[in-house]
Amino acid sequence: MVSLQHPMGEEKRIRVLIVDDIPETRENLRKLLQFEGDIEVIGAATGGADSIERAKELAPDIVLMDINMPDLDGIAAAEAILQASPHTQLVMMSVQGDADYLRRSMLAGAREFLTKPFTSDELVTAIRRVHRLQPRIEAPPLIQRAPPLEETPLPTKPEKRGKAIALYSPKGGVGCSTIATNLAIALGEEGERKVALVDFSLQFGDLGVLLNLQPKSTVADLAPHIEELDDILLDEVMQAHSSGVKALLAPPRPEMADLMAPEDMRRILAQLKSIYDYIIVDTASSLSDSTLAVLESSDKILLVISPDIPTIKNARLFFEVMEALDHPLEDIMLVLNKVDGRGSIQEEKIEASIKHPIASRISNDREAALAAANQGIPLLIGQKNRPISQDILTLARQLSRELEKVEKTIPEEAVSGSKGLIKRIFRSPGIL
Ligand SMILES: Nc1ncnc2c1ncn2[C@@H]1O[C@H](COP(=O)(O)OP(=O)(O)OP(=O)(O)O)[C@@H](O)[C@H]1O
Ligand SMILES: [Mg+2]
Repeated sequence: MVSLQHPMGEEKRIRVLIVDDIPETRENLRKLLQFEGDIEVIGAATGGADSIERAKELAPDIVLMDINMPDLDGIAAAEAILQASPHTQLVMMSVQGDADYLRRSMLAGAREFLTKPFTSDELVTAIRRVHRLQPRIEAPPLIQRAPPLEETPLPTKPEKRGKAIALYSPKGGVGCSTIATNLAIALGEEGERKVALVDFSLQFGDLGVLLNLQPKSTVADLAPHIEELDDILLDEVMQAHSSGVKALLAPPRPEMADLMAPEDMRRILAQLKSIYDYIIVDTASSLSDSTLAVLESSDKILLVISPDIPTIKNARLFFEVMEALDHPLEDIMLVLNKVDGRGSIQEEKIEASIKHPIASRISNDREAALAAANQGIPLLIGQKNRPISQDILTLARQLSRELEKVEKTIPEEAVSGSKGLIKRIFRSPGIL
């Protein structure tokens, strides 16, 4: 056990307990934090078992935990600490390449994962961000907040019914993320609409790159707290883009996609619908249960295709799946991207093959799309006058007109009874 000095009488400081078995590392961490006025290192522990004792004794706000320790590893210690003290938050530290550790840490309840070596800036930012999430946890338990039955309940905020629009393509690289990003910006420009952009392409989501936002906080931060999901927590995790759109980014690493179950994704969308007018959701092209959960929870699906045979073939299969699931086909808008008329398949042929009308067309402009992606400046901000941008604006107007007509409620049984959807389809005869 190592005792560290701490100044008295500064109540609002973030109280940090350092846990690392290497004395030099403990000392370095302390040095990195010593000039931060709002952070106070209240102690240090030399191993997993010691950290449990020290956390009990000191009740820190944040435990800075090393993952690899000889006696009891950081993950087991984290679990024990978080169970004993729900007010404490955990930041895990590890060396590079520990992808599995990262996943297990998040599952154990860690709020942040720092890969060594990290800078003092990264460390301090992580501690402050995690600490900002804390008041929600310190709120009285829900059971105490609920009014007794005979009392008149307090007026609740009026229920908003935002519309979720999912972009899906049964083939990768067709343009979902490009269109999702710009569509969100376009919808936000129309009047006073609150727009959220969600990256549910969980493994290799690109929205952070397309918007030039760092994945400082992502959907993975919601995973350990999905049961307590509320507006405050969502707001903490979503990142503001200069366009006014709020983005919920995909996890920073592919293996962290497993942290989200389909049910969690439904919950997040339901909560977002109570805050935002429009929720634009980007998805991955595999038709997994997660993707199906998103598609089911959406008011509109934009099926993005490009004019080539493999994509058209997959789009046809996609419609068959949706039909087998009794998903209303009129809620699916077919968007033909990368239209250039040169050597492409005729639109009538596409419609005849897919048996669904093309609702919207977006020009092919490789140069503009690529520049936008590489610079992290969306088309509608950096290259608004190009036909590709104008086409997306037209799509946005068309979509908002359509959505005004839609007043759809998702039946409860569709939410609870839809686990293992894709397996259900594979079992039903005649499909795929
Ligand atoms: N209308 C367009 N004209 C030309 N190129 C485009 C157009 N839309 C998108 N692209 C380009 O196509 C590529 C794939 O786009 P994007 O990442 O948006 O697709 P995606 O469907 O999200 O792909 P992924 O399967 O990787 O998620 C990018 O290089 C992008 O710049
Ligand atoms: Mg994408």
